[in-house]
Amino acid sequence: MDRKELLNEAKEAMKMAYTPYSHHKVGAALLTEDGKVFRGCNVENAAYGPTICAERTAIVKAVSEGYTKFKAIAIVGGMNGIIRFFCTPCGVCRQVLREFVVPETFEIYVENGDGEMKTFTLAELLPESFGPENLSE
Ligand code: THU
Repeated sequence: MDRKELLNEAKEAMKMAYTPYSHHKVGAALLTEDGKVFRGCNVENAAYGPTICAERTAIVKAVSEGYTKFKAIAIVGGMNGIIRFFCTPCGVCRQVLREFVVPETFEIYVENGDGEMKTFTLAELLPESFGPENLSE
């Protein structure tokens, strides 16, 4: 599963986005260490606050199925499902990813409307982060 394939999985995931309020559809595809892919989409709510992002949907799906080791995540998104800008993860999703990955090696793939791809490590998007090690004695 290479970067382009994982981004295609994210595009498929985006089709399921439930976005009656913002109309901003996001899809994510999370690759486990052993090559399994978990898809996620954003799921909005009339009360707004309970809305869950695509990235966290994918993470929660994976962890709840017993997968906690991840290599990469691909993310795409845009108004009405039209990809125009790079859809990098929100701050909350960066922190939730941080719980399960090695920030220096975990990769985040994004794509814009021109098919241009970018790769970031989590350490680049969430420097000097706080993680599980900070709570060890
Ligand atoms: N959203 C995501 O799914 N992932 C992000 O990283 C940024 C924001 C969703 C939440 C909401 O449904 C919509 O995009 C607009 O904020």
